[in-house]
Amino acid sequence: MSAELLSRLAAILGPSGLLADEADMVSYAIDWRRLFPGRPLCVARPASTAEVSEVVKACRAAGAAIVPQGGNTGLAGGAVPDASGAQVVLSLNRMNKVRAIDPVGLTISADAGCILKVAQDAAAEAGRLLPISLAAEGSATVGGVVSTNAGGVNVVRYGMARALVLGLEVVLADGTVVDMARQLRKDNAGYDLKQLFIGTEGTLGIVTGAVLRLVPRPRHTVTALLSVPSPQAALDLLALAQDELGDTLSAFELMSGYSFDLLKRHLNLTPPIASGDWFVLLEAGASLSGLREAAEAALAAALENGTALDGVIAETGAQATQLWALREHITDGEAREGKSMKHDVSVPIVDVPAFLEAADIAIAEGAPGAKVNAFGHLGDGNIHYNVVLAPGQDGAAINTLVHDVVARFAGSISAEHGIGQYRVDELLIRRAPAEIALARTLKRALDPDDFLNPGKVLPAGG
Ligand code: MLT
Ligand code: ZN
Repeated sequence: MSAELLSRLAAILGPSGLLADEADMVSYAIDWRRLFPGRPLCVARPASTAEVSEVVKACRAAGAAIVPQGGNTGLAGGAVPDASGAQVVLSLNRMNKVRAIDPVGLTISADAGCILKVAQDAAAEAGRLLPISLAAEGSATVGGVVSTNAGGVNVVRYGMARALVLGLEVVLADGTVVDMARQLRKDNAGYDLKQLFIGTEGTLGIVTGAVLRLVPRPRHTVTALLSVPSPQAALDLLALAQDELGDTLSAFELMSGYSFDLLKRHLNLTPPIASGDWFVLLEAGASLSGLREAAEAALAAALENGTALDGVIAETGAQATQLWALREHITDGEAREGKSMKHDVSVPIVDVPAFLEAADIAIAEGAPGAKVNAFGHLGDGNIHYNVVLAPGQDGAAINTLVHDVVARFAGSISAEHGIGQYRVDELLIRRAPAEIALARTLKRALDPDDFLNPGKVLPAGG
């Protein structure tokens, strides 16, 4: 059966469109953190939506499940196959073009496999901004960002990926192409069906193209790093920034002193300000003048009332890049420190200080010797409460400790990374049975044979 499928796929895709040698499939078989090794039957690389549809029909006829894959930069193992050797990875990486840009209508259309950075650069060339920014943007794809409803550092102003999607083109589990790639700002005609495919990680359909919202590119940007005495002070600073900078505020990131210890120890990166227990990196952008003056006044007020202990506003673009490098290298510093359990949690923004306090107590009591590397998107209530394990410590038990605290604040166990295969079991425990039942109803309606990305988000077999 599989030889027959391989020859059918070769006929559809041509020689460059199908990989079946193990050596060629290595990078498609495992996630970049190397936590979820799999073994695909083959990697199908269609060059068009019509080819995606043909591949889906052929795999379906052969009973081989499909695992859609974009840039393979996810953190939850959502885009890699299982170890059965029976699943087909459907990589979108040959469908990599920007289709069109409308600088006045403020839209960009792109193939699913278009690298996010390529789409950002195309928007910049047209004098516009594609306002989604994340560490993996040089490899992540438009389709992956949409399918995982990715977050990043600009959510505080522009929302998650979902908020940017105007239109989608998808291929369903039976190979039907549904073209909803409309550029409309307003479209209230019936169910908003594209929402079914945003953040559902390829389990209900395969995103093959997207129309995303652009925004005017702010002429002026202010980037500032501040040290603050506590998470509560950081929250006070957020309120101050909301008052003084209004909706120009586009990033508000919190980082712990321990995150900065890791940067110093492993990467020799140090902040250009006096150290504190916590740090905030904020950015604002506007086209009208006066932004820098407003930011300077806000910083002065924060220093004056003790909300901030020290702070700097970047003088040049290069300095802003250096400040961002501190934030962007935390994950790297953490990886060099040792094995860690990542948590991508959210709680109501005002509860972040109380959450951090309660979680620290839970870890100190339940997992003595573990070190907490807390950082993340305070402006969204999303903290990466990562725990570096002491030798011999049980990661699963630490997950439970942290997520029990999240539950006390009615938070989420996945704010932006998704469920993938990593958090399937946890999702079943943490979400109400009525929500899980509704999710299963949708899955059964769109993919009754559990053929699209089985075992991701929901357990295999429904
Ligand atoms: C980040 O915000 O840097 C990532 O989402 C966090 C991570 O790597 O855990
Ligand atoms: Zn993040």
